[in-house]
Amino acid sequence: MSISISEFDYLRNLVLNHSAISIDSGREYLAESRLAHIAVTEGHASVGALLLQMRTKPFGTVHRKVLDAMTNNETWFFRDLHPFDVIKRNLLPELIAKRSSVRQLNIWSAASSSGQEAYSLAMMIEEDFPELRTWTIRILGTNISSAILNRARSGRYSQMEVNRGLPAALLTRYFQREGLEWVVKSNIRNRVEFEPLNLSKPWQMLPSMDIIMLRNVFIYFDVPVKKQILAQARGVMKPEGYLFLGCAESTINLDDKLERVPFEKTSCYSLRS
Ligand SMILES: C[S@@+](CC[C@H](N)C(=O)[O-])C[C@H]1O[C@@H](n2cnc3c(N)ncnc32)[C@H](O)[C@@H]1O
Repeated sequence: MSISISEFDYLRNLVLNHSAISIDSGREYLAESRLAHIAVTEGHASVGALLLQMRTKPFGTVHRKVLDAMTNNETWFFRDLHPFDVIKRNLLPELIAKRSSVRQLNIWSAASSSGQEAYSLAMMIEEDFPELRTWTIRILGTNISSAILNRARSGRYSQMEVNRGLPAALLTRYFQREGLEWVVKSNIRNRVEFEPLNLSKPWQMLPSMDIIMLRNVFIYFDVPVKKQILAQARGVMKPEGYLFLGCAESTINLDDKLERVPFEKTSCYSLRS
């Protein structure tokens, strides 16, 4: 039994209502490939049968598994490199000078996926800014999925994951091998917190941020959701804070209160004064 139009519409609405991610019509193949293993483990003969049964049940574990499986969690250490270079060479030195009396910095990896972005920032700070060891540095990773947050908190990565973007010197200094996996050492893991947060809903209890990394998640949202997320991001940025979007994302036609700050190979945003 393949997926009918009405089951696929049910799935698209489930994903849209929960995560604000819009899936284009005609992409039934995506559901087939991503949900086949869940259909099998839940004892259904097909993805169509799985969706048919989900429609009759209240929201629960299976719905959560399906939502997770429909989400792209692609990420890697020091992704795109240039934003990390700019943070290291330009933004942190500037913020350290500006915050020297309070000795506190808040950095947020929004849509942190399995945690590589947040741990990359923690390793960079440990490696290049020893003067911050006596400061209060909060690195927060948030994501919509509890399953991916548990992975992030565990700090466990496969050989393939540590091969993506992580310099060998940092692997040996900040990870220990456990069986087939590499585990982030506690001095780095303790510097990062992971909490659930749905970007498409009102954000609560966030401290004001010096740096926000909101990368490679915008592509999935429609224009009103992007506008609403950027407005909320402005609300939690410190007046001298910075926002990074993914390299294929921008604020054009979405928000004119954010000003692009160009650097040689990348750019970020600050609050327009
Ligand atoms: C492609 S990953 C990007 C990870 C990381 N920011 C990066 O650039 O490497 C997108 C992440 O956004 C998360 N996500 C999708 N919709 C979300 C939402 N509404 N609220 C919070 N996170 C969401 C997904 O769970 C996924 O982990």
